Amino acid sequence: MLISLVRPIVGEEEVEAVVRVMRSGQLASGPEVKAFEEAFASACGVKHAVAVNSGTAAIHCALEAAGVGPDDEVITTPFTFAATATPILMQRATPRFVDIDEQTYNADPERMLAALTPKTKAVVAVDLFGLPVDPQGLDELRRRGIMAVEDACQAIGARRHGVAAGALLDVGCFSLYATKNLMTGEGGVLTTDNDAIATAARRFRQHGQGERYEYLSLGYNYRMTDMSAAIGRVQLGRLESINAARRKNAHLYRRFLADVPGIVLPFVPEGVEHAYHQFTIRVVAEETPNGTDRDALRAKLSERGVATGIYYPTPLHLNPLFASLGYKLGDLPNSERAASQVAALPIHPLLTEAEVETVSSTIRDIVGA
Ligand SMILES: Cc1ncc(COP(=O)(O)O)c(C=O)c1O
Repeated sequence: MLISLVRPIVGEEEVEAVVRVMRSGQLASGPEVKAFEEAFASACGVKHAVAVNSGTAAIHCALEAAGVGPDDEVITTPFTFAATATPILMQRATPRFVDIDEQTYNADPERMLAALTPKTKAVVAVDLFGLPVDPQGLDELRRRGIMAVEDACQAIGARRHGVAAGALLDVGCFSLYATKNLMTGEGGVLTTDNDAIATAARRFRQHGQGERYEYLSLGYNYRMTDMSAAIGRVQLGRLESINAARRKNAHLYRRFLADVPGIVLPFVPEGVEHAYHQFTIRVVAEETPNGTDRDALRAKLSERGVATGIYYPTPLHLNPLFASLGYKLGDLPNSERAASQVAALPIHPLLTEAEVETVSSTIRDIVGA
C-alpha cells in the first residue's frame, strides 16, 4: 500500500462548473471572478479580495501596493518557499532575512521589529504550514508607515483568536495552487480592508491600467480566468469540511505519536485554528531511542510505502539566488537547523484513520519507540 503526501480534492461539481463556464463563451476574467472575489472576501471577513493567477502574483501586487522599490528593504523569513521573497527581487528591492522562532518556524515578530531600518518599506510574514502569524508589533509598523504583508498562501481557513488568515495584517496573499487546501489548479488572491491597496493591486494585475488603454504605471497580466474562479467558488463551499478533515488527521497523529522521544509535533499557540496545509514534524536524532535522523526516517518510510516531504531543505539565505546578499552558513541557525530536521507527513483530507495509524506506527517502529 502506498500512502501519498498530497491528493487534490476535485469533485463532479468542480468539473460541472468548468464545463458551464466553457459553454458560456466567457472564459477570461468575468462574472465568475467577480462572484469568487465577493465570496472570498466574505470568507476572510475583509472588504476586498483581488483574484490573480498565483500566490506569487498576489505577493508581488502587495509589494507594489506598498510602494516597494529599488532603494527599499523588505524583512522576511528564510524558512519558506522562494515566492515569499522573489517578489522583493522583482521590485528590485533588498530582502533582509530574519531567523525563525524554533516552535512556530516563522520569523518571530520581535526579531522582525529589531531588524527594522530607515530603509524598511514592508515586512512579509508567513503563515507557515497553515499556522497564522502573530500580529504583535503591527501597530508599531503602522506608526512607522511600514506595510505588513501576510503570506497566507498555506493558511486558507486558519484563524487566530477568531480572525481569519489573510485578515491579520495589512494585506493577505493566498495561493490556490493544485495541492493547496483550496485550489483552482493555479491561482491566487489578495485580501485587504484598505481601499488604496485594493486599487493598486487591481491596477497592477491588469497592465497598470486606469481606464481601458490608459497605462498609468508598469503592470502585469496577473488576471484569473473565469474557469479557475468557478472552481474556486465550488471549493470555497467545501473549505470547512476539507480543513476539518485535515484537523482530524492532525488530532489522530497527536494521539498516535504522543510521547515518541525525538519526534517534535507541530506547535499550536493558544487561540489558533491551524489549517494544517502541512503536518510537519521535527526529528531530533540525538533524542530518538535508536539515533534515527530525519533523512534515515524518510528513506525507511519511503521503503515502507509512506511518502513524506521536506519543506524546506535549504533556507532561502543559502540559495544561489540570494548569494549576493552575503549571508553564510551559521548566520540564521534556527532556520538552518529546521531545514535539516523537518519532515512533512501525509495529512490530506482523503487519508483514512487507518492510514494515519499506519504512518504513525511505522515511525514508532523505525525510531525504536
Ligand atoms: C508560503 C508560500 N508563499 C508563496 C507561494 C507561491 O504561490 P504560487 O505557487 O501560487 O505562486 C506558495 C505556494 O506555493 C507558498 O507556499
